Amino acid sequence: MANIKDIIARFSEKPGGLIEAYHALQKKYNYIPAEAIKEAAKIFGVSEAQAYGVATFYSYLSVKPRGKYIIRICESAPCHIAGADEVIKAFESELGIKTGETTPDGKFTFELTECVGQCQGSVVVTINGRPYLDVTPEKVPAILAEYS
Ligand code: FES
Repeated sequence: MANIKDIIARFSEKPGGLIEAYHALQKKYNYIPAEAIKEAAKIFGVSEAQAYGVATFYSYLSVKPRGKYIIRICESAPCHIAGADEVIKAFESELGIKTGETTPDGKFTFELTECVGQCQGSVVVTINGRPYLDVTPEKVPAILAEYS
């Protein structure tokens, strides 16, 4: 995959370049593909185990394939009190997956997150960074329909 190689190579001379390369890859693919870890090990002159270790150390990096759209629901206290649990159930049943999973068609990944600073609109959901405020279980199908 020339593309992956090119992305990594762009950071090869920089201090901390490996992490920056992973960020760039995740931005493009939504996760760090296994080939990228092999390639990064070669380019940065570290073992594959070390390259894998860096990719899995940071919670914001993912080595698991993730969907095109990353749905995150806030589970911090204000959103929790406002009924996040019910909204989580609604997403899980609409998507047919549990939190932390990706739909089989690779379209959606559903994750939990900490407070995203929009507590005035609890329950808060983001999809690829776009915030949805005051989300209720009833609103979930319409929100997902925007991405169909
Ligand atoms: S607690 Fe959910 S956005 Fe702050």
